[in-house]
This record gives sequence, structure tokens and C-alpha cells, in this order.
Amino acid sequence: MLDLKLEKKDLPFAMAEEIKNLRTGITFCGADIKTVLFTSCSPNEGKSTISLETARSFAELGKKVLYVDCDFRKSIFKCKIVDGRIGRGLTHYLTGQCELDDVIYCNASRDDAEFYVIPSGPSSKSPTELLASDRFKELIDRLRNDFEIVILDTPPLASVVDASIIASIVDGSVILVEAGGVNYRIVQKVRDKLASSGGRILGVVLNKVDTTKKRYSYYKYGKEYGYHYGEN
Ligand SMILES: Nc1ncnc2c1ncn2[C@@H]1O[C@H](COP(=O)(O)OP(=O)(O)OP(=O)(O)O)[C@@H](O)[C@H]1O
Ligand SMILES: [Mg+2]
Repeated sequence: MLDLKLEKKDLPFAMAEEIKNLRTGITFCGADIKTVLFTSCSPNEGKSTISLETARSFAELGKKVLYVDCDFRKSIFKCKIVDGRIGRGLTHYLTGQCELDDVIYCNASRDDAEFYVIPSGPSSKSPTELLASDRFKELIDRLRNDFEIVILDTPPLASVVDASIIASIVDGSVILVEAGGVNYRIVQKVRDKLASSGGRILGVVLNKVDTTKKRYSYYKYGKEYGYHYGEN
């Protein structure tokens, strides 16, 4: 297995606590929830940041965690690697160019929890077709058996349909919403898109909450995140 060291920033206390709450929220959705997708309406709302921290948080509990970067267009790993090199990724595997073991990397370092990652690989000409393939479905089934929790980062749903394709295969989806950044009607549309794919929506995370505003005054730090969990 290939080793990789990902950047680890110390989170402000309040944010670290909310990530733990999110982890607990996902756990309480049921023991059958093992593959969880993160998406949002628009770019930059915080999907990659929050999904990666959630994966790390599960790993800190000693769980066997896999983080899959399904955003072929804008991979998080371009800027998160501090040591090691990514060779092959998800697109190589889905196009039959290598075996699964060739694309699973272990994030291992003394100052971080150990978890596994599958990077997206080079951007593909037909990402949507790759995600709709039988090979992707089979992959998710296999990963569900091999890991205790699988977190999947995806592109924003208002731009491309990739997330709703994945949502129909995984156990549940989390929608990230940037506080004050998106009109609620767009959030409703994204929710409906996900629901119509047949996927289960686990909850909505309100990210980048401006804590200087009175409404959010229960948060201590600047831009943190709060979350809402429960039925859609
Ligand atoms: N809770 C937060 N507080 C402050 N900054 C945040 C928070 N969450 C994310 N960010 C910042 O917002 C920016 C976008 O985050 P990120 O890349 O995770 O978003 P994304 O939704 O994955 O974007 P894309 O759609 O382009 O993939 C980054 O600079 C990240 O550090
Ligand atoms: Mg991202």
C-alpha cells in the first residue's frame, strides 16, 4: 500500500466540536449507513474541507475509514499533500487501467489519525459516464464491505449531475450549505435532485457561519460551521 501524508491543520475548538457532532449525527443515522456522500449547491461551500475532517474524525475513533475524492474536475488532493506522491487514482481504476490496491493510499503520520484515501486521478473526459458505470457500483459495494465508513467528496450539484448519480448508489448524502451564500430555493432544488435519484438525504450542514452576527452568537469563533441533522 502506498503512503501519503496529508496536511493537517489544528481546527478551532468550536469547529472541532461541530465536526464531532456531525460524526455523531452520521453514526446515529444507523449502522447500515456506511457510504456517505458530501455535496453542495455551488462551488466553494466547503464540501472537501468538511468531508475530509469528518473522515479524519471517524479515524480518530479508531474506525477503518476511506475517503474517496469523486471530484474529477477539482481534486482536493492537489493542495493537501505534504509528503508522498499520487500516481494512479479513481479514474485509472474505473477505466480498467489498474487494480483497486493501486489507488488506495494510506494517510499515515505520527501526528495524524490513520485513514485511507482514493484520489480522483486525472480529470476524465466523461466523468458522469464513469460514475454511472457498473464498475463504480461494484466498487462501492466492495468498499462497503472492506471499510467501516466511506466518505465521498463530490462536485457541486447545481453544476454537474455527478453527485446525484453517486447518491443513488451510496447509503446517504449530506448537503453542505454556505451560510448566507446560497438562496434557499436553490438548496431546495438540490435536495429534490438528490431525493429524485432515490438516495437518502441524511442532513444539511450549515457551513461558514458568520459568528459575528447575533443569530449565530452561540459560536465562539469567526467562520465556523453549525449543522442541522434529521429528516429532510
Ligand atoms: N467552516 C469553514 N470556515 C472557514 N473557511 C472554510 C470553512 N469551510 C471551508 N472553508 C474554506 O473555504 C474554501 C473552499 O473550501 P472547499 O475547497 O472545502 O470547498 P468545496 O465545496 O470543496 O469547493 P469546490 O466546489 O470548488 O470543490 C477553502 O479555502 C476552505 O479552507
Ligand atoms: Mg471540493
